[in-house]
Amino acid sequence: MAAAWAGMIGIPLFRYVSSPLFTQKPGETAENFTRVIPVSKLTPGQFETVSVRGDLTDAWSVTRDRAIGRVFVRLREPIPKGDPTEAVIDVFTTICPHSGCAVQSRDEKPTFYCGCHGACFANDGSRVEKPGGGPNPSPRDLDQLPYRVERDEASNTLWVAVDYREYLPGTPQQILA
Ligand code: FES
Repeated sequence: MAAAWAGMIGIPLFRYVSSPLFTQKPGETAENFTRVIPVSKLTPGQFETVSVRGDLTDAWSVTRDRAIGRVFVRLREPIPKGDPTEAVIDVFTTICPHSGCAVQSRDEKPTFYCGCHGACFANDGSRVEKPGGGPNPSPRDLDQLPYRVERDEASNTLWVAVDYREYLPGTPQQILA
């Protein structure tokens, strides 16, 4: 009985104490690249909106393979002939830096638009004026995320892998949420 109680209390307590909050310095995050889309599904210059799946972790539990966010992904130029893993990719989070609503991508300019308060961003993620004029409410550009191009050896497929992270809305600087 005592062992059962120790397990019920001890395991969650260990997870809490060993959570990333206690193992990372403020502003740091462990690299955690997740494959989001095969490079072959990207058309140069065109953004795709894709889900990021990963493990949701809190102090008490880990939920495996859940949708943890969405990103805009674009192959900026055609894949280089020499080393395709050197392909230049743009990856932006869909979370609006103003107040956290979901930004949409669209075919007209500006490329990215947030319907909540009208924040607008160009295709390089930079803030731009609203189409009708007026100040852009976003305090910073769209948040760009780290990526790498990985080869899956078994299928010989190139993937875009993203180190997904979220930043607090409402601040001029990027601050990890
Ligand atoms: S949350 Fe996007 S403009 Fe306000």
